[in-house]
Amino acid sequence: MPYRLAVASHKGGTGRTTTACAIAWLWGQNGLKVLLVDACRTKAASMIAIDGRGDCPWKNVSFCNTMPTFDRYDLECDVVVVDCPPLTEPESQDVLRNCDGVLLTCLADVLCLRTLPSSTVAIRQARDENPNLKVLGILLTHFDGEDSNQERTLEKLRESQMTLTFEPPVPMQPELREWPLRPGCDMPPGDARAAYAKLTGEMKKKIGIGKARTMVIA
Ligand SMILES: Nc1ncnc2c1ncn2[C@@H]1O[C@H](COP(=O)(O)OP(=O)(O)O)[C@@H](O)[C@H]1O
Ligand SMILES: [Mg+2]
Repeated sequence: MPYRLAVASHKGGTGRTTTACAIAWLWGQNGLKVLLVDACRTKAASMIAIDGRGDCPWKNVSFCNTMPTFDRYDLECDVVVVDCPPLTEPESQDVLRNCDGVLLTCLADVLCLRTLPSSTVAIRQARDENPNLKVLGILLTHFDGEDSNQERTLEKLRESQMTLTFEPPVPMQPELREWPLRPGCDMPPGDARAAYAKLTGEMKKKIGIGKARTMVIA
């Protein structure tokens, strides 16, 4: 079975879709065979990853627009990356029950940080049926280092969740907002991409993926 990673958050707008697409694109560029799953009702990942012909042209990335049940099609892949619905939605439980790890995305604001305990509740609930589900860490996205409030929030997160916080936070990068304007295009270069590249390197080590495996999906 390939490693199945859910990119999740309680709140909307925390960078889940962008992060799932960035991870899939970067791991694909690095030679891993990736299945990107758009499990969220907004279908925003499809708007970034799927070109005008209905294909995902990214190197080594296949695409699926519902959470697979892992028993119908043959597909060779090393890792599955899922754009999870908000954890407030009941269908997020189906995703979490079928994943090995969760990456939580969060904004550097107090309101968003305060939703983290609710995310933990949703993850615990999924563990009733999937006891091996792990939290890989928390990633702050569209971070503005010039904003002293955000800096303070990052400090608070570091103090309380030190070993779980991925560094650096992903900085604001306006080009990322325009990624869906050219669906299927490569991830725009820049500081955010550099932060995501570091994240994917660390997560690859943490998870221990790399060898191609065959999996069966539905
Ligand atoms: N690093 C970034 N810099 C600038 N804009 C970003 C960045 N990451 C995400 N965005 C933008 O923020 C918005 C919310 O991100 P999105 O990935 O759609 O979050 P979610 O899936 O959690 O709702 C989108 O408009 C997206 O393009
Ligand atoms: Mg989304």
